[in-house]
Amino acid sequence: MGNGDYAQDAAPKGRKVVAELRGVSKYFGEVCAVSDLSLSISEGEFLSFLGPSGCGKTTALRILAGFEVPTEGVVILDGDIVNSLEAHHRPVNMVFQQYALFPHMTAAQNIGYGLRQRRPRLPRAEIADKVYKTLDVVRLGGYEHRRIWEMSGGQQQRVALARAIINEPKLLLLDEPMAALDRKLRKEMQIELQDLQRQLGITFVLVTHDQEEALSMSDRICIMREGCIMQIGSPQELYDRPNSRYVAGFVGTSNFFDGILTDNKGVLGTVRVNNEMPMQASHGSDLAIGQDVCISIRPEQMKLHRQGEGLWVKVLNRIFLGEHTEYLINHETLGDFLVLSPRQAEMAESPFNPGDRALVSWEPSAALILDNK
Ligand SMILES: Nc1ncnc2c1ncn2[C@@H]1O[C@H](COP(=O)(O)OP(=O)(O)O)[C@@H](O)[C@H]1O
Ligand SMILES: [Mg+2]
Repeated sequence: MGNGDYAQDAAPKGRKVVAELRGVSKYFGEVCAVSDLSLSISEGEFLSFLGPSGCGKTTALRILAGFEVPTEGVVILDGDIVNSLEAHHRPVNMVFQQYALFPHMTAAQNIGYGLRQRRPRLPRAEIADKVYKTLDVVRLGGYEHRRIWEMSGGQQQRVALARAIINEPKLLLLDEPMAALDRKLRKEMQIELQDLQRQLGITFVLVTHDQEEALSMSDRICIMREGCIMQIGSPQELYDRPNSRYVAGFVGTSNFFDGILTDNKGVLGTVRVNNEMPMQASHGSDLAIGQDVCISIRPEQMKLHRQGEGLWVKVLNRIFLGEHTEYLINHETLGDFLVLSPRQAEMAESPFNPGDRALVSWEPSAALILDNK
């Protein structure tokens, strides 16, 4: 499917486009690794490809880097079509999932490796100077003589980064760079990477299957599924206006109620949920009457109360999460779903207990009718 109502494949306005994919597909024999990708990446942007394993993220990066030639479509870098331009001639560097460092060489030797291969040769002093500066940038000053096999995972990760940024690429491609790090180190590196990106002003394209990582670091995220781009947008756009059930479920948590679209004329459409209960919700324009859809409502958009208007539900369970309390709720037609109640609301009214009856309500605009794909 395309990007629907919320097409965001154009880069943010007013910024120079550094890279562009137009209708790019890649087949490995019968296997379609990526299909009809179109997207613009603007200067200084931090863009992520997010999707499950096997959805084509690495292939998309390798096409940008020049390690794969697309079967169809066009790759444009800095305004030029580069489909057949070899990787080492592109203003692009890639940090691989396995860092591909030389284990017996020192950090400095690894970082300077690419510069030493350049012809005509660069003066040794110039190479050394750049290597030391780059070591400082990735906070490895003092580690220049350490061999790779003597370094921790986090330090190796920084060497791999340094080796990529020393060439001052226009575009830095990072393939799951934090996958080998433990959770705490990963958090630290996420912050460091963001700082580094701002400091260097290099355009970053990150591949990850970790939604938290993508949401916290990116200007825009490209959500992928089975080789296709499902939606491109800022983290907030994807969270507030997902164009499909897939995106709503991939970015954050949501309650989904399955049904059939019965009316799409007004601002709010109507869905017959579970073949019996009509519910109103906001809808996009490309949904047809009679279509299988779902209504998506974020747990924090739902309120529990004892009086007023709402649906009668039964509280099944309560989990205290600090800032929020999470309730598992049952409604006789809608089934089980989650309500997230902020701490203030919990302080104002006495909390609900398992077994209590309660009313649940939400703003109609918080309920979205989505394609069930
Ligand atoms: N060199 C290749 N030969 C054959 N199939 C490949 C090759 N590279 C990737 N694929 C297939 O293309 C699909 C996408 O792979 P990949 O881009 O590595 O996904 P991801 O990085 O999202 O895990 C997968 O089905 C994978 O098996
Ligand atoms: Mg991959």
